Amino acid sequence: MSENNKEYSDEFLLNCRKPVGELGIDVIESMNKSHTDLSLWGLSHLDIKEDDVILDVGCGGGVNIERFTNKTNGKVYGIDYSEVSVAESTKHNQEKIEEGQVEIISGSVSDLPFDDETFNIVSGFETIYFWPDLVNDLREIHRVLKKDGAIFICNEDKKDENLMDRMGDIVNLLNMTVLSEKELHDLLEKAGFTDIEVYTGNDTNYICAIGRKE
Ligand SMILES: C[S@@+](CC[C@H](N)C(=O)[O-])C[C@H]1O[C@@H](n2cnc3c(N)ncnc32)[C@H](O)[C@@H]1O
Repeated sequence: MSENNKEYSDEFLLNCRKPVGELGIDVIESMNKSHTDLSLWGLSHLDIKEDDVILDVGCGGGVNIERFTNKTNGKVYGIDYSEVSVAESTKHNQEKIEEGQVEIISGSVSDLPFDDETFNIVSGFETIYFWPDLVNDLREIHRVLKKDGAIFICNEDKKDENLMDRMGDIVNLLNMTVLSEKELHDLLEKAGFTDIEVYTGNDTNYICAIGRKE
C-alpha cells in the first residue's frame, strides 16, 4: 500500500484487504509486481537457512513463497483468508506444490492450523495492517514458531507525522493499522518476541522487523 495507490478506485483498493472475484485477481496481479522492491529490500535483512521451514501469512499472489523456495529446501507454506489469494498463490507455485515443497492453506492469522513449534520463520508482507487483534495474532505466530525461530514483518508504509497527509484517504477507506517503528517494536515485545530489530528505508517509507522466539 502506498500513496501511489491514489490513482486506483475505492473498489480496487478495498480488494487489497481481502481480494474477491475478478477484481481481486487484478489486484493480486498488480501487487505481485508493485511489491517487488519492498519485498527484496525486506528480505535483504532476513537470514534464511537452506533447511528452514517457512510460513508466509497473508500470502496474496504467492510471489514471496516462490522467493523463499529459492532460498530453502525446507517446506514453505502460505496461508490467506481470501479464497482468491489461495487460488492465485496455488497457481503461481503449482510446480513446487506438485513436487511437495509448497502448501497453500485457507485460514486466518488469528487461528493458525499448525502445531506449536512448527516453523523456523513466519513472515507477513503488507498484511499486518488488516489483522483484527495484533497482540493476539502475533502471539499466535509466536506459538507456531520453533525455539530460536523468527517472525518477519514487512510493510511499505510506516506511521510518521506525514502519514495522514500522504495517504489518509486510503488508511481510512481500508481501516488500516499503520505502525510506527516504536509501535511495531512494542507490539512484538508484548507478544513475547525478543532480540527485536526494526529497519526503515532510507528514501522510502518501508519498514520491516524481525523478532525471535526464545
Ligand atoms: C495487501 S495484500 C498483500 C499480499 C502479499 N503478502 C504481498 O505482499 O503481495 C494482503 C493480504 O493479506 C490477506 N489477509 C488480510 N488479513 C488477513 C488475516 N486476518 N488472515 C489471513 N490473511 C489475511 C489478504 O487476504 C491479502 O491477500
